[in-house]
Amino acid sequence: MNDLAVKLCSEHSLSLDGYERLIKSRTPELAEKLAKEAAALRKNIYGNDVYVRGLIEISSYCKNDCFYCGIRRSNREAERYRLNPEEILACCDEGYRLGFRTFVLQGGEDGYFTDELLCGLILDIKERYPDCAVTLSLGERGYDSFKRLFDSGADRYLLRHETADPSHYAKLHPPEMSYEHRMKCLRELRDIGYQVGCGFMVGSPYQTAREIARDLKFIEEFKPDMCGIGPFVPHHNTPFRDMPKGTVELTCFLLSVIRLIHPPVLLPSTTALGTIDPLGREKGIKAGANVVMPNLSPVEVRKKYELYDNKICTGDESAQCRNCLSARMESIGYRIVAARGDIIRQ
Ligand code: 5AD
Ligand code: FES
Repeated sequence: MNDLAVKLCSEHSLSLDGYERLIKSRTPELAEKLAKEAAALRKNIYGNDVYVRGLIEISSYCKNDCFYCGIRRSNREAERYRLNPEEILACCDEGYRLGFRTFVLQGGEDGYFTDELLCGLILDIKERYPDCAVTLSLGERGYDSFKRLFDSGADRYLLRHETADPSHYAKLHPPEMSYEHRMKCLRELRDIGYQVGCGFMVGSPYQTAREIARDLKFIEEFKPDMCGIGPFVPHHNTPFRDMPKGTVELTCFLLSVIRLIHPPVLLPSTTALGTIDPLGREKGIKAGANVVMPNLSPVEVRKKYELYDNKICTGDESAQCRNCLSARMESIGYRIVAARGDIIRQ
């Protein structure tokens, strides 16, 4: 291990320059050593348990126009759909039978999902399944909206920060979106009492080791409960169609580094990682991740929630996805548990 890696393992922190140099100086040998350290830290806290979240993609309508995303509003070819509350509850019923104890409601920023509708839905889910956590991943909303949803029973909120560098943020988003507002939302979610998840894409256009170093510094300071990172994968109908995709190698390296920075963090091995490598999710777990998020959306709509090209699991029934992931985790010595899977803060 080089000096930086030794320091990271003992102090769980590096300077901004330190993170940048660590990324630039990485080798396969270093990655392997950090993965071992990361796996040991995770094992101390979570044993061999991998938590599952049932992902329900509730709407492919989005008022935003992020340059990387396949469901951006300017993509006229995207087929749009939204699930109604009955359909969402049916996904939860199926998910509960399959052993899910967390439901993630994810969607584009869609005005159909008013506070009133969502509050009713969350109350219904919580009434049927008081032992389950509800996670929302519905983009930016106002403080009052976040508060009302929390008061109705939502437990967690995922809102990737996408990049912790304001000028990089401006290269990934149209001018009406701002880094400041994204960060304001994250602070508000935390203040309200949510378990909060941030995250970013690995290998997003214009990202260098410097931007990633800023992401790592942000994670070190914000100490999120969850952190979603996955490779950028181009979508054929976006301005970034010709940009190179992120790599499994760097994504796994960063999963290990994030585990070392913030040992208790809930870290998913993402669908995007499984999309660019058939064994990507297994590799992510081995590098230090401890969460997987199989798809619980109705099969008829899955193809339409196409954030990037060639997304996996779009033809599979929920039960197939669940079983597939169980088998994959067992093949590498881990087991999926039917638990809410809250963060264990030491
Ligand atoms: N490649 C990888 N991840 C993407 N996301 C959106 N578009 C892409 C893409 N082309 C991620 C963003 C968003 C999350 C829901 O999906 O980080 O926050
Ligand atoms: Fe969905 Fe394998 S996880 S089919």
